[in-house]
Amino acid sequence: MSQENNVPVLTIDGPGGAGKGTVCQLMAKQLGWHLLDSGALYRLTALAAQKHGVPLHDEASLAVLAQHLDVQFIPQDAGLMQTVLEGEDVSLDIRTEQVAGDASVVAALPLVREALLSRQRDFAQVPGLVADGRDMGTVVFTQAPVKIYLTASAEERAKRRYLQLKEKGADADIVKILQEIVQRDERDMNREVAPLKPAQGALIVESTNMSIEQVVDVVMTELERQQLV
Ligand code: DC
Repeated sequence: MSQENNVPVLTIDGPGGAGKGTVCQLMAKQLGWHLLDSGALYRLTALAAQKHGVPLHDEASLAVLAQHLDVQFIPQDAGLMQTVLEGEDVSLDIRTEQVAGDASVVAALPLVREALLSRQRDFAQVPGLVADGRDMGTVVFTQAPVKIYLTASAEERAKRRYLQLKEKGADADIVKILQEIVQRDERDMNREVAPLKPAQGALIVESTNMSIEQVVDVVMTELERQQLV
């Protein structure tokens, strides 16, 4: 249960590109639970900083921005989420590589993380929550009954991202994507506050050679084992 209100929480943490987003959307849909995409909050803070001309080293101002983010998440068909910042649909703007890089810088700032903490915990509402991020099991929902650490090799994650971009008809350079993934891992895993690592007791799912369906099956089996479904 979450420490907040006895609502069951499933946490799925892991490095970028491991498939957490898709797995969390599918799990939330199958379970009929709410979904928290915590990475979106860091991306939104980075985008708001860009919009308001706040430099990425101004921790105090970034924390104020994070605390007062005027954001709405509006569920769409097929488990997708429309993200609205200050009245503007930014669902696509927060997914650029530029915003991803800035988000990883902003996410290393302790005051920003603190400012986003209670906002994330507010997502734990009946009948349950699927929480996607880096520190869901280690910091935000430490009492969650099921914690997953979903990972895959950097090469496999780069390949998946490359194929995703190609499918959308976008230009993609696999070597550059791999470099960015390694750089982001380095920042997320080695920062002082809430570094990316498996939570104590987390089930580690190494998905390099697994399909999304196989990952969902493993997570569902774990929920059954803990008698949550
Ligand atoms: O999962 P994502 O790529 O949308 O996350 C964007 C950035 O935010 C990424 O660099 C890691 C960071 N992040 C974090 O530090 N803690 C979280 N709970 C979620 C994301």
